[in-house]
Amino acid sequence: MCGIVGYIGNRQSQSILLEGLKKLEYRGYDSAGIAVFTDQGLEITKTVGRLANLEGRLTSEPLRGTVGIGHTRWATHGKPSDVNSHPHTDNSLKFSVVHNGIIENYLELKEELMHQGHRFVSETDTEVISHLIAGLYEGDIVKAVQKAVRKMRGAFALGVLTEHEPDRLVAVRYASPLIIGIGNGEKFIASDIPAILEHTRDIYILNDGEMAVLTRDGVELMTIEGNFISKDVFHVDWDLMTAEKGGYDHFMLKEIYEQPKAYRDTMRGRVSEDGKSVTLSELSMTPEQIRAFRRVHIVACGTAMHAGMVGKTIIEQLARLPVETDVASEYRYRSPIITPDTLVIVVSQSGETADTLAALREAKRCGARVLAITNVVGSSVAREADDTIVTLAGPEIAVASTKAYTSQLIAFYLFGLYLAQTLGTRDEAFVANMLAAMQALPEQVERILAQAETIKEIADAIAHNRSLFFIGRGVDYAVALEGSLKLKEISYIHSEAYAAGELKHGTLALIEEGVPVIALLTQEELFEKTISNIKETKARGANVLGIYNEGQEAEVAKSVDSQFAIPRTLPLLTPALSVVPLQLLSYYASLALGHDVDKPRNLAKSVTVE
Ligand code: F6R
Repeated sequence: MCGIVGYIGNRQSQSILLEGLKKLEYRGYDSAGIAVFTDQGLEITKTVGRLANLEGRLTSEPLRGTVGIGHTRWATHGKPSDVNSHPHTDNSLKFSVVHNGIIENYLELKEELMHQGHRFVSETDTEVISHLIAGLYEGDIVKAVQKAVRKMRGAFALGVLTEHEPDRLVAVRYASPLIIGIGNGEKFIASDIPAILEHTRDIYILNDGEMAVLTRDGVELMTIEGNFISKDVFHVDWDLMTAEKGGYDHFMLKEIYEQPKAYRDTMRGRVSEDGKSVTLSELSMTPEQIRAFRRVHIVACGTAMHAGMVGKTIIEQLARLPVETDVASEYRYRSPIITPDTLVIVVSQSGETADTLAALREAKRCGARVLAITNVVGSSVAREADDTIVTLAGPEIAVASTKAYTSQLIAFYLFGLYLAQTLGTRDEAFVANMLAAMQALPEQVERILAQAETIKEIADAIAHNRSLFFIGRGVDYAVALEGSLKLKEISYIHSEAYAAGELKHGTLALIEEGVPVIALLTQEELFEKTISNIKETKARGANVLGIYNEGQEAEVAKSVDSQFAIPRTLPLLTPALSVVPLQLLSYYASLALGHDVDKPRNLAKSVTVE
């Protein structure tokens, strides 16, 4: 996730671009840059690090001109560095591109362009776009962009300038957000409304496959095939704070709703075109190295650890390798048995958690190979691990992790399948079937989100309880732990998660009249056993909410007080769905109690102390 902004008008563009980028910094902040038409032509200033670095450079050497594009980066292809920063250009230095998204076939395109004599300076997919457009340019930038876009696969929002046509700014949207701002004698592009709200409240919202050609006095809207279209102007009446949250009341809610996109982005480019296999081209581990692994350790903290617990089941079931999970703060002090044939997987949204980093270093010291699953390219964890799978959830701002957790699950599914296809523990039909079920998950999450109101009613009813319990078996237990943590951290209600069969070994003593129990029943094989455990709690007066697979309404209704169905999927994939109502439940419980949802007391987003 990156942020892009663009301006064409009569005012100096530099400060408008910088102010816009500040509002988009939440989308990524590992580097930033702008391109402006100056008296000298198309000039670019870009630099690694926070936006303040770019601002410093531009204060001493300003770019003067009334047309420009800007970018704040959240690295996906290529580490954060000056040269990998946007805007990118071509060898003639006459074209400039800012991009948010991922070009899946960029290596193929790059090779083709290199054969034609193009020379590349960065590791990014975006640089390929500027070369592609330059190579296809025959006097009309709109046509060149359309031709280029037809060759590209993936997700992209683009802002394109060429020195040959300094009075036009071209914008394209495909699976990454982009809006057009309409001012008087000036026009804007941006990834998100806050970036331009100061200048205009009238916007066009581009849909996938649409593009716009901006001049000072007008906007032409068309499809990427070149058919002209018209659109209603959307008048924004949000204040700035609401706009920053995309119209949601809190970042957490926004991030919960971003999960379908995060799933799609994390899978994008990692599933073969025929849908039959997983391609993790970012991994440097060879099939021989994979075949040599004898055990796997998954190490992480908090929510990432809960994703790791699901990861254990995924890897054990798909690859038949023994997996241990450990909280990072315990791992290195218990003298774990780490051998060179151990694969250690560290999971961290931020990639900066001190405990996780210390565990990673211990694993490396003992000679293990380390794979990181992280949301931040260039983070300490990503830099120090041997291999990294980046989750493409985009920056997560709310302290309570939601979309990062579910993207970690997607990363585990992909990696589990990758191990299975390399080790031959699952055949092609199995892999294809699971990948098809995974592709359906985003739409299934959307169906759950459409029922948020039902969850809100349940949350309002339980919010005033002092204590509650989550139970489940198998992967449902791992999800129960995550649901319980989420509720604790933002609603401050005491809650505990138990393996459903374990309750009777002590904790059942705490169940009394009216105590809420949230029971997960998504594992077909364990359904009846969990129903028995639910009955044990009901016999002591518990008020049970059942979360189950749709189609089982009648059976579940006999044993619970309220129920919520998730869409049907494969048993191993249910955590990617069943956690969503639990996230909403904590959100609405916190809201009902009047707490600060995004910044819960005593907690920090990134924990860099041990
Ligand atoms: C809870 C939460 C934390 C983090 C934990 C690890 O919602 O966000 O439990 O999961 O602090 O953080 P990362 O993933 O950044 O290593």
